[in-house]
Amino acid sequence: MEIIRIPMIMREVTMTERIRGKTIGFVPTMGALHEGHLSLVRMAKGENNISVVSIYVNPKQFGPAEDFLKYPRDTEGDIEKLAGEGVDILFLPDDPHMYLEDFTTQVKVEGLSERLCGFFRPGHFTGVATVVTKLFNIVIPHKAYFGQKDYQQTVIIKRLVKDLNMNVEIVVCPTVREKDGVAMSSRNAYLLKEERQAATAIYSCLQEASKAARSGTTDVKELKRLMENILCAVPLFSHVQYASAYNPETLEELEKIKGEALLAVAVKIGNTRLIDNLMVVPARNTIVY
Ligand code: PAJ
Repeated sequence: MEIIRIPMIMREVTMTERIRGKTIGFVPTMGALHEGHLSLVRMAKGENNISVVSIYVNPKQFGPAEDFLKYPRDTEGDIEKLAGEGVDILFLPDDPHMYLEDFTTQVKVEGLSERLCGFFRPGHFTGVATVVTKLFNIVIPHKAYFGQKDYQQTVIIKRLVKDLNMNVEIVVCPTVREKDGVAMSSRNAYLLKEERQAATAIYSCLQEASKAARSGTTDVKELKRLMENILCAVPLFSHVQYASAYNPETLEELEKIKGEALLAVAVKIGNTRLIDNLMVVPARNTIVY
């Protein structure tokens, strides 16, 4: 595996491969890699001639009171995992290479960025959209792979690619879960044993709401109540930020479930913020008035 730190060199390498007729599959990450990340890597490898993974903890997507400084970092372990997967290129830039001193541009996907997580993390998705635009311009991939775990991020990136005429195909891959259903996340490392146990309620509440929707509950108020009841019964959850059903394209909260809907949850356990989601399709014979 080749490790490249300088954006200009990264671009030269992929440009050369593109001219040779090779396809480039790209997985952007912030490191502390787990099986969720590696599932994207395997998809990228399987569908392209050259696989590129980036590791960069992007300061611009963390709020001032958030966990940028203590975000888990394990570069050595990550390199070992990626080499083990047979990744071709690791792009590992540092801050001075990514954001020059006079950096001043922002990429903002309006509307979508303010809903769900965006309401609780102002500026977060502008930071994501800005860095992903930079990474796409540096790596110039044919396809880029993202996890459904961060569903809102995938919607925002798809819109960004469409609005700015970027020539990248966005592939969304399923959420990888632990045996007990908890979605894998680098932030799970923050959880104490009891907190990790409590986190199982997040997936349970999504499953219960999905079951109810599939068996005919179309009123979102009712689904929301069901989800909140499960989550609020867990004393370790310090804040249930949102738990409801949303339009999967606009991310607006629904009143009735009429077709495919996104069930999404964000809770805080102490200072750790966890998110998860499930897509639900109601039973075909459900009549919605
Ligand atoms: P990070 O949180 O490291 O995640 C990198 C990619 O892995 C994202 O597409 C995320 O959705 C995916 N991922 C995380 N956990 C997953 C799981 N359990 N199953 C499947 N996929 C999972 O998301 C970011 O980094 C950053 O915002 C980034 C896009 C790199 C921009 O800085």
